[in-house]
Amino acid sequence: MSEHFRVHGGARLVGEVDVVGAKNSVLKLMAAALLAEGTTTLTNCPDILDVPLMADALRSLGCEVELEGDVARITTPAELSYHADSEAMGKLRASICVLGPLVGRCKRAVVALPGGDAIGSRPLDMHQSGLEKLGAKTWIEHGCIVAEAEGLHGAQIWLDFPSMGATENILMAAVLANGTTVIDNAAREPEIIDLCLMLTQMGARIEGAGTSTLTVHGVTELKPTEHRVIGDRIVGATWGFAAAMTRGDVRVRGVNPHHLDLVLEKLRMAGAEVTVYEGEDEGFRVVMDGRPKAVDFVTLPYPGFATDNQPFAIALSAVSEGTSMITENLFEARFRFIDEMIRLGADARTDGHHAVIRGVEQLSSAPVWASDIRAGAGLVLAGLCADGATEVYEIFHIERGYPGFVENLRKLGADVERVSS
Ligand code: UD1
Repeated sequence: MSEHFRVHGGARLVGEVDVVGAKNSVLKLMAAALLAEGTTTLTNCPDILDVPLMADALRSLGCEVELEGDVARITTPAELSYHADSEAMGKLRASICVLGPLVGRCKRAVVALPGGDAIGSRPLDMHQSGLEKLGAKTWIEHGCIVAEAEGLHGAQIWLDFPSMGATENILMAAVLANGTTVIDNAAREPEIIDLCLMLTQMGARIEGAGTSTLTVHGVTELKPTEHRVIGDRIVGATWGFAAAMTRGDVRVRGVNPHHLDLVLEKLRMAGAEVTVYEGEDEGFRVVMDGRPKAVDFVTLPYPGFATDNQPFAIALSAVSEGTSMITENLFEARFRFIDEMIRLGADARTDGHHAVIRGVEQLSSAPVWASDIRAGAGLVLAGLCADGATEVYEIFHIERGYPGFVENLRKLGADVERVSS
Protein backbone atom coordinates (compact mmCIF):
# COMPACT_ATOMS: atom_id res chain seq x y z
CA MET A 1 0.00 0.00 0.00
CA SER A 2 1.41 3.40 -0.90
CA GLU A 3 0.98 6.65 0.98
CA HIS A 4 0.03 10.15 -0.03
CA PHE A 5 -0.26 13.57 1.59
CA ARG A 6 -3.57 15.10 2.55
CA VAL A 7 -3.26 18.88 2.75
CA HIS A 8 -6.06 20.93 4.35
CA GLY A 9 -5.69 24.47 3.12
CA GLY A 10 -6.18 27.68 5.04
CA ALA A 11 -3.48 27.73 7.71
CA ARG A 12 -1.02 30.60 7.99
CA LEU A 13 2.51 29.15 8.37
CA VAL A 14 4.22 30.60 11.43
CA GLY A 15 7.41 29.56 13.22
CA GLU A 16 10.95 28.37 12.59
CA VAL A 17 12.32 25.70 10.32
CA ASP A 18 15.82 24.22 9.91
CA VAL A 19 17.25 23.47 6.48
CA VAL A 20 19.66 20.53 6.13
CA GLY A 21 22.53 19.96 3.67
CA ALA A 22 21.91 20.39 -0.04
CA LYS A 23 20.89 17.33 -2.04
CA ASN A 24 22.60 18.75 -5.11
CA SER A 25 25.85 19.13 -3.18
CA VAL A 26 26.08 16.02 -1.02
CA LEU A 27 25.90 13.53 -3.90
CA LYS A 28 28.74 15.26 -5.77
CA LEU A 29 30.82 15.51 -2.59
CA MET A 30 30.30 11.78 -1.95
CA ALA A 31 31.48 11.13 -5.51
CA ALA A 32 34.50 13.39 -4.95
CA ALA A 33 35.56 11.10 -2.09
CA LEU A 34 36.48 8.58 -4.82
CA LEU A 35 39.40 10.84 -5.75
CA ALA A 36 41.45 10.14 -2.58
CA GLU A 37 42.48 6.92 -0.91
CA GLY A 38 41.46 6.90 2.77
CA THR A 39 38.49 8.12 4.82
CA THR A 40 36.59 11.26 3.84
CA THR A 41 33.97 12.55 6.29
CA LEU A 42 30.96 14.63 5.29
CA THR A 43 28.73 16.31 7.86
CA ASN A 44 25.30 17.99 7.52
CA CYS A 45 24.19 15.25 5.09
CA PRO A 46 20.42 15.32 4.48
CA ASP A 47 18.33 12.30 5.47
CA ILE A 48 17.04 11.59 1.96
CA LEU A 49 16.90 8.36 -0.02
CA ASP A 50 19.56 9.41 -2.56
CA VAL A 51 22.23 9.42 0.18
CA PRO A 52 21.97 5.68 1.07
CA LEU A 53 21.56 4.96 -2.66
CA MET A 54 24.81 6.82 -3.36
CA ALA A 55 26.42 4.95 -0.44
CA ASP A 56 25.44 1.62 -2.05
CA ALA A 57 26.71 2.88 -5.40
CA LEU A 58 30.09 3.77 -3.85
CA ARG A 59 30.22 0.37 -2.08
CA SER A 60 29.75 -1.30 -5.45
CA LEU A 61 32.96 0.48 -6.54
CA GLY A 62 34.88 -0.91 -3.56
CA CYS A 63 34.41 1.83 -0.93
CA GLU A 64 33.31 1.27 2.65
CA VAL A 65 30.57 3.71 3.58
CA GLU A 66 29.18 4.37 7.04
CA LEU A 67 26.11 6.57 7.47
CA GLU A 68 25.32 7.73 10.97
CA GLY A 69 22.88 10.57 11.57
CA ASP A 70 23.99 13.44 9.36
CA VAL A 71 27.54 12.08 8.98
CA ALA A 72 28.83 10.03 6.04
CA ARG A 73 32.24 8.34 6.30
CA ILE A 74 33.56 7.08 2.99
CA THR A 75 36.69 4.95 2.92
CA THR A 76 38.11 4.70 -0.58
CA PRO A 77 40.55 1.87 -1.40
CA ALA A 78 43.78 2.16 -3.38
CA GLU A 79 42.25 0.08 -6.17
CA LEU A 80 38.74 1.12 -7.22
CA SER A 81 36.38 -0.69 -9.54
CA TYR A 82 35.51 1.54 -12.49
CA HIS A 83 32.28 -0.37 -13.27
CA ALA A 84 29.53 1.93 -12.05
CA ASP A 85 26.72 -0.07 -13.59
CA SER A 86 25.42 -1.92 -10.51
CA GLU A 87 21.73 -2.00 -9.57
CA ALA A 88 22.35 0.77 -6.99
CA MET A 89 23.91 3.00 -9.65
CA GLY A 90 20.94 2.38 -11.95
CA LYS A 91 18.52 3.64 -9.26
CA LEU A 92 20.45 6.84 -8.65
CA ARG A 93 19.43 9.78 -10.85
CA ALA A 94 22.65 11.61 -10.09
CA SER A 95 24.78 8.53 -10.91
CA ILE A 96 26.51 10.44 -13.70
CA CYS A 97 28.49 12.42 -11.10
CA VAL A 98 30.86 9.45 -10.54
CA LEU A 99 32.01 9.67 -14.17
CA GLY A 100 34.55 12.48 -13.69
CA PRO A 101 36.08 11.07 -10.46
CA LEU A 102 36.42 7.58 -11.98
CA VAL A 103 38.05 8.90 -15.13
CA GLY A 104 40.34 11.06 -12.97
CA ARG A 105 41.31 8.25 -10.64
CA CYS A 106 41.12 5.08 -12.79
CA LYS A 107 41.45 6.64 -16.26
CA ARG A 108 38.38 4.67 -17.24
CA ALA A 109 34.71 4.41 -16.30
CA VAL A 110 31.57 2.52 -17.22
CA VAL A 111 28.60 4.38 -15.75
CA ALA A 112 24.94 3.36 -16.04
CA LEU A 113 22.98 6.14 -17.74
CA PRO A 114 20.25 7.60 -15.57
CA GLY A 115 16.71 6.84 -16.75
CA GLY A 116 14.35 9.36 -18.32
CA ASP A 117 13.40 12.32 -16.20
CA ALA A 118 10.00 13.95 -15.89
CA ILE A 119 11.54 17.43 -16.15
CA GLY A 120 12.81 16.83 -19.70
CA SER A 121 15.73 15.38 -21.57
CA ARG A 122 19.13 15.35 -19.87
CA PRO A 123 21.78 15.20 -22.62
CA LEU A 124 25.43 14.45 -21.75
CA ASP A 125 27.16 15.91 -24.81
CA MET A 126 29.05 18.55 -22.79
CA HIS A 127 30.21 15.96 -20.23
CA GLN A 128 31.54 13.84 -23.09
CA SER A 129 33.17 16.59 -25.11
CA GLY A 130 34.83 18.03 -21.98
CA LEU A 131 36.33 14.67 -21.01
CA GLU A 132 37.46 14.16 -24.61
CA LYS A 133 39.29 17.49 -24.51
CA LEU A 134 41.13 16.11 -21.46
CA GLY A 135 42.26 13.14 -23.54
CA ALA A 136 39.57 10.51 -22.92
CA LYS A 137 37.56 8.63 -25.53
CA THR A 138 33.89 8.34 -24.64
CA TRP A 139 30.98 6.40 -26.12
CA ILE A 140 27.59 4.94 -25.19
CA GLU A 141 27.34 1.15 -24.98
CA HIS A 142 24.61 -1.14 -23.56
CA GLY A 143 22.93 1.64 -21.59
CA CYS A 144 26.19 2.90 -20.12
CA ILE A 145 28.52 5.78 -20.82
CA VAL A 146 32.05 4.48 -21.26
CA ALA A 147 35.20 6.60 -20.98
CA GLU A 148 38.81 5.55 -21.42
CA ALA A 149 42.06 7.49 -21.40
CA GLU A 150 45.75 6.61 -21.58
CA GLY A 151 46.37 9.62 -19.38
CA LEU A 152 44.56 12.91 -18.86
CA HIS A 153 46.08 16.25 -19.80
CA GLY A 154 45.09 19.84 -19.17
CA ALA A 155 43.00 21.58 -21.84
CA GLN A 156 41.02 24.72 -22.65
CA ILE A 157 37.31 23.84 -22.52
CA TRP A 158 34.43 26.13 -23.51
CA LEU A 159 31.02 24.95 -22.40
CA ASP A 160 28.07 25.81 -24.66
CA PHE A 161 25.97 26.32 -21.54
CA PRO A 162 27.00 26.59 -17.85
CA SER A 163 25.84 23.05 -17.03
CA MET A 164 26.28 22.04 -13.38
CA GLY A 165 26.77 18.36 -14.14
CA ALA A 166 29.27 18.92 -16.97
CA THR A 167 31.24 21.45 -14.89
CA GLU A 168 31.40 19.00 -11.96
CA ASN A 169 32.51 16.02 -14.04
CA ILE A 170 35.16 17.94 -15.97
CA LEU A 171 36.43 19.53 -12.75
CA MET A 172 36.69 16.18 -10.95
CA ALA A 173 38.60 14.66 -13.87
CA ALA A 174 40.85 17.72 -14.31
CA VAL A 175 42.08 17.86 -10.70
CA LEU A 176 44.21 14.76 -11.34
CA ALA A 177 45.15 15.57 -14.97
CA ASN A 178 48.63 16.46 -16.05
CA GLY A 179 48.82 20.24 -16.57
CA THR A 180 46.35 23.11 -16.44
CA THR A 181 42.70 23.00 -17.47
CA VAL A 182 40.58 26.09 -18.02
CA ILE A 183 36.79 25.61 -18.02
CA ASP A 184 35.12 28.63 -19.57
CA ASN A 185 31.41 29.37 -19.17
CA ALA A 186 31.51 27.12 -16.10
CA ALA A 187 28.50 26.84 -13.78
CA ARG A 188 28.62 29.24 -10.82
CA GLU A 189 26.10 27.59 -8.49
CA PRO A 190 26.89 27.57 -4.74
CA GLU A 191 27.07 23.75 -4.94
CA ILE A 192 29.96 24.11 -7.44
CA ILE A 193 31.74 26.41 -4.97
CA ASP A 194 31.13 23.82 -2.23
CA LEU A 195 32.71 21.13 -4.43
CA CYS A 196 35.69 23.37 -5.28
CA LEU A 197 36.16 24.07 -1.58
CA MET A 198 36.22 20.39 -0.68
CA LEU A 199 38.53 19.52 -3.59
CA THR A 200 40.88 22.31 -2.51
CA GLN A 201 40.92 20.94 1.05
CA MET A 202 41.85 17.59 -0.53
CA GLY A 203 44.87 19.23 -2.16
CA ALA A 204 43.47 20.24 -5.56
CA ARG A 205 44.61 23.56 -7.05
CA ILE A 206 41.56 25.43 -8.34
CA GLU A 207 41.16 29.13 -9.08
CA GLY A 208 37.97 31.03 -9.87
CA ALA A 209 35.38 29.05 -7.86
CA GLY A 210 32.07 30.88 -8.19
CA THR A 211 33.09 32.63 -11.41
CA SER A 212 32.51 31.45 -14.96
CA THR A 213 36.20 30.62 -15.51
CA LEU A 214 37.62 27.76 -13.49
CA THR A 215 41.37 27.16 -13.74
CA VAL A 216 42.56 23.79 -12.48
CA HIS A 217 46.25 22.98 -12.07
CA GLY A 218 46.42 19.18 -12.00
CA VAL A 219 48.11 17.43 -9.07
CA THR A 220 49.26 13.80 -8.83
CA GLU A 221 47.38 12.85 -5.70
CA LEU A 222 44.61 14.06 -3.38
CA LYS A 223 44.14 13.30 0.28
CA PRO A 224 40.88 12.65 2.18
CA THR A 225 39.27 15.45 4.15
CA GLU A 226 36.38 16.44 6.41
CA HIS A 227 33.77 18.80 5.01
CA ARG A 228 30.38 20.25 5.96
CA VAL A 229 27.74 20.21 3.20
CA ILE A 230 26.21 23.64 2.47
CA GLY A 231 22.56 24.26 3.35
CA ASP A 232 19.97 23.48 0.68
CA ARG A 233 19.00 26.76 -0.98
CA ILE A 234 16.13 25.12 -2.89
CA VAL A 235 14.59 23.76 0.31
CA GLY A 236 15.16 27.20 1.87
CA ALA A 237 13.35 28.82 -1.07
CA THR A 238 10.47 26.36 -0.67
CA TRP A 239 9.87 27.63 2.88
CA GLY A 240 10.19 31.26 1.76
CA PHE A 241 7.51 30.78 -0.90
CA ALA A 242 5.33 28.80 1.53
CA ALA A 243 5.47 31.72 4.00
CA ALA A 244 4.58 34.26 1.31
CA MET A 245 1.73 32.18 -0.12
CA THR A 246 0.09 31.47 3.23
CA ARG A 247 0.53 35.10 4.37
CA GLY A 248 2.68 33.69 7.14
CA ASP A 249 5.78 34.47 9.19
CA VAL A 250 8.60 31.93 8.85
CA ARG A 251 12.21 32.07 10.06
CA VAL A 252 14.42 29.72 8.01
CA ARG A 253 17.75 28.59 9.50
CA GLY A 254 20.77 26.75 8.11
CA VAL A 255 21.06 28.30 4.65
CA ASN A 256 23.22 31.15 3.37
CA PRO A 257 20.71 33.91 2.53
CA HIS A 258 23.00 35.21 -0.24
CA HIS A 259 22.44 31.96 -2.13
CA LEU A 260 18.84 33.15 -2.28
CA ASP A 261 19.37 36.83 -3.07
CA LEU A 262 17.16 36.81 -6.17
CA VAL A 263 14.48 34.61 -4.58
CA LEU A 264 14.26 36.93 -1.58
CA GLU A 265 14.14 39.99 -3.84
CA LYS A 266 11.22 38.46 -5.76
CA LEU A 267 9.40 37.77 -2.48
CA ARG A 268 9.97 41.40 -1.48
CA MET A 269 8.53 42.52 -4.83
CA ALA A 270 5.51 40.31 -4.09
CA GLY A 271 5.01 42.32 -0.89
CA ALA A 272 6.84 40.29 1.75
CA GLU A 273 9.01 41.76 4.46
CA VAL A 274 12.30 39.87 4.32
CA THR A 275 15.09 39.92 6.90
CA VAL A 276 18.41 38.17 6.30
CA TYR A 277 20.69 36.76 8.99
CA GLU A 278 24.38 36.10 8.51
CA GLY A 279 27.04 34.22 10.49
CA GLU A 280 26.39 31.43 12.98
CA ASP A 281 22.62 31.75 12.81
CA GLU A 282 22.42 32.29 9.06
CA GLY A 283 19.11 32.21 7.26
CA PHE A 284 16.21 34.55 6.65
CA ARG A 285 12.69 35.45 7.74
CA VAL A 286 9.74 36.07 5.45
CA VAL A 287 6.66 37.87 6.77
CA MET A 288 3.68 38.45 4.51
CA ASP A 289 0.66 40.54 5.38
CA GLY A 290 -2.15 40.41 2.85
CA ARG A 291 -2.34 38.92 -0.61
CA PRO A 292 0.91 38.61 -2.63
CA LYS A 293 1.27 40.80 -5.72
CA ALA A 294 2.03 39.21 -9.10
CA VAL A 295 5.72 39.10 -10.09
CA ASP A 296 7.43 37.78 -13.27
CA PHE A 297 10.07 35.03 -13.08
CA VAL A 298 12.72 33.89 -15.60
CA THR A 299 14.75 30.75 -14.88
CA LEU A 300 18.46 30.93 -15.65
CA PRO A 301 21.68 29.38 -14.35
CA TYR A 302 22.94 30.87 -11.05
CA PRO A 303 22.85 33.73 -10.09
CA GLY A 304 19.61 33.71 -12.09
CA PHE A 305 16.37 32.31 -10.68
CA ALA A 306 16.82 28.53 -10.30
CA THR A 307 14.70 26.26 -12.48
CA ASP A 308 14.20 24.10 -9.37
CA ASN A 309 12.29 26.98 -7.78
CA GLN A 310 10.03 27.47 -10.81
CA PRO A 311 7.13 25.34 -9.48
CA PHE A 312 7.03 27.50 -6.34
CA ALA A 313 6.97 30.65 -8.49
CA ILE A 314 3.99 29.20 -10.35
CA ALA A 315 2.23 28.26 -7.12
CA LEU A 316 2.78 31.79 -5.73
CA SER A 317 1.59 33.40 -8.98
CA ALA A 318 -1.54 31.24 -8.92
CA VAL A 319 -2.75 33.02 -5.76
CA SER A 320 -1.25 36.46 -6.37
CA GLU A 321 -3.10 39.62 -7.28
CA GLY A 322 -2.50 40.28 -10.98
CA THR A 323 -0.88 38.42 -13.86
CA SER A 324 2.60 36.86 -13.88
CA MET A 325 4.73 35.61 -16.73
CA ILE A 326 7.06 32.71 -16.00
CA THR A 327 9.79 31.83 -18.50
CA GLU A 328 11.51 28.43 -18.27
CA ASN A 329 14.89 28.33 -20.01
CA LEU A 330 16.39 25.06 -18.75
CA PHE A 331 13.99 22.12 -18.72
CA GLU A 332 11.09 22.41 -21.14
CA ALA A 333 9.01 19.61 -19.61
CA ARG A 334 8.85 21.33 -16.22
CA PHE A 335 5.65 23.08 -17.33
CA ARG A 336 3.82 19.72 -17.32
CA PHE A 337 3.21 20.41 -13.67
CA ILE A 338 0.92 23.28 -14.66
CA ASP A 339 -1.79 20.77 -15.63
CA GLU A 340 -1.91 19.68 -12.00
CA MET A 341 -2.06 23.32 -10.91
CA ILE A 342 -5.02 23.87 -13.27
CA ARG A 343 -6.72 20.94 -11.54
CA LEU A 344 -6.35 22.99 -8.34
CA GLY A 345 -8.09 25.92 -9.97
CA ALA A 346 -5.07 27.90 -11.22
CA ASP A 347 -5.80 30.16 -14.20
CA ALA A 348 -2.72 29.29 -16.27
CA ARG A 349 -1.73 28.97 -19.93
CA THR A 350 1.56 27.92 -21.47
CA ASP A 351 3.05 28.70 -24.84
CA GLY A 352 6.47 27.16 -25.51
CA HIS A 353 8.70 28.10 -22.65
CA HIS A 354 6.42 30.84 -21.30
CA ALA A 355 3.52 30.51 -18.89
CA VAL A 356 1.00 33.20 -18.09
CA ILE A 357 -0.75 32.90 -14.74
CA ARG A 358 -3.67 35.08 -13.67
CA GLY A 359 -3.87 34.90 -9.92
CA VAL A 360 -7.08 33.77 -8.20
CA GLU A 361 -8.14 34.60 -4.66
CA GLN A 362 -8.27 30.95 -3.58
CA LEU A 363 -7.42 27.60 -5.13
CA SER A 364 -9.78 24.65 -5.03
CA SER A 365 -8.74 21.29 -3.55
CA ALA A 366 -8.37 18.27 -5.84
CA PRO A 367 -6.40 15.04 -6.19
CA VAL A 368 -3.04 15.81 -7.84
CA TRP A 369 0.06 13.82 -8.83
CA ALA A 370 3.68 14.86 -8.19
CA SER A 371 5.93 14.25 -11.19
CA ASP A 372 9.27 15.30 -9.66
CA ILE A 373 10.63 16.59 -6.36
CA ARG A 374 9.99 20.29 -6.88
CA ALA A 375 6.68 19.93 -8.74
CA GLY A 376 5.51 17.80 -5.82
CA ALA A 377 6.53 20.39 -3.24
CA GLY A 378 4.87 23.09 -5.40
CA LEU A 379 1.59 21.15 -5.31
CA VAL A 380 1.74 20.89 -1.52
CA LEU A 381 2.26 24.69 -1.32
CA ALA A 382 -0.72 25.18 -3.62
CA GLY A 383 -2.78 22.82 -1.44
CA LEU A 384 -2.03 25.06 1.54
CA CYS A 385 -3.94 27.83 -0.30
CA ALA A 386 -6.88 25.70 -1.46
CA ASP A 387 -10.25 25.22 0.20
CA GLY A 388 -10.84 21.67 1.49
CA ALA A 389 -8.47 18.70 1.35
CA THR A 390 -5.96 18.33 -1.50
CA GLU A 391 -4.62 14.79 -1.93
CA VAL A 392 -1.06 14.76 -3.31
CA TYR A 393 -0.02 11.39 -4.77
CA GLU A 394 3.40 9.95 -5.77
CA ILE A 395 4.99 11.56 -2.73
CA PHE A 396 8.16 9.45 -3.03
CA HIS A 397 9.29 12.18 -5.43
CA ILE A 398 8.92 14.83 -2.72
CA GLU A 399 10.65 12.69 -0.12
CA ARG A 400 13.72 12.39 -2.39
CA GLY A 401 14.39 16.05 -1.65
CA TYR A 402 12.70 17.04 1.62
CA PRO A 403 13.60 15.20 4.82
CA GLY A 404 10.75 15.48 7.35
CA PHE A 405 8.57 17.56 5.02
CA VAL A 406 5.26 16.77 6.72
CA GLU A 407 6.76 17.13 10.21
CA ASN A 408 8.17 20.56 9.32
CA LEU A 409 4.90 21.71 7.76
CA ARG A 410 2.97 20.61 10.85
CA LYS A 411 5.46 22.36 13.12
CA LEU A 412 4.69 25.57 11.21
CA GLY A 413 0.98 25.05 11.76
CA ALA A 414 -0.08 23.45 8.48
CA ASP A 415 -2.81 20.83 8.56
CA VAL A 416 -1.05 18.09 6.58
CA GLU A 417 -1.07 14.35 7.13
CA ARG A 418 0.37 11.27 5.52
CA VAL A 419 -2.38 8.77 4.76
CA SER A 420 -2.53 5.31 3.17
CA SER A 421 -3.70 5.43 -0.42
C1 UD1 B 1 21.44 20.02 -11.84
C2 UD1 B 1 20.55 19.74 -10.65
C3 UD1 B 1 19.10 20.02 -10.99
C4 UD1 B 1 18.93 21.41 -11.55
C5 UD1 B 1 19.89 21.63 -12.72
C6 UD1 B 1 19.88 23.06 -13.24
C7 UD1 B 1 21.70 17.91 -9.53
C8 UD1 B 1 21.68 16.49 -9.11
N1 UD1 B 1 20.68 18.35 -10.28
O1 UD1 B 1 21.11 19.09 -12.86
O2 UD1 B 1 18.34 19.89 -9.79
O3 UD1 B 1 17.60 21.55 -12.02
O4 UD1 B 1 21.25 21.35 -12.31
O5 UD1 B 1 20.19 23.95 -12.24
O6 UD1 B 1 22.58 18.68 -9.15
N2 UD1 B 1 22.70 20.19 -20.94
C9 UD1 B 1 23.08 19.85 -22.24
N3 UD1 B 1 24.15 19.00 -22.41
C10 UD1 B 1 24.88 18.50 -21.36
C11 UD1 B 1 24.48 18.85 -20.04
C12 UD1 B 1 23.39 19.71 -19.86
O7 UD1 B 1 22.47 20.29 -23.20
O8 UD1 B 1 25.85 17.76 -21.59
C13 UD1 B 1 21.57 21.14 -20.73
C14 UD1 B 1 20.37 20.51 -20.00
O9 UD1 B 1 19.50 19.86 -20.88
C15 UD1 B 1 19.74 21.73 -19.35
C16 UD1 B 1 20.94 22.62 -19.04
O10 UD1 B 1 22.00 22.15 -19.85
O11 UD1 B 1 18.90 22.41 -20.26
C17 UD1 B 1 21.37 22.63 -17.59
O12 UD1 B 1 21.58 21.32 -17.14
P1 UD1 B 1 22.61 20.98 -15.99
O13 UD1 B 1 23.05 22.21 -15.29
O14 UD1 B 1 23.65 20.07 -16.53
O15 UD1 B 1 21.69 20.14 -14.99
P2 UD1 B 1 22.11 18.91 -14.10
O16 UD1 B 1 23.52 19.06 -13.63
O17 UD1 B 1 21.70 17.65 -14.76
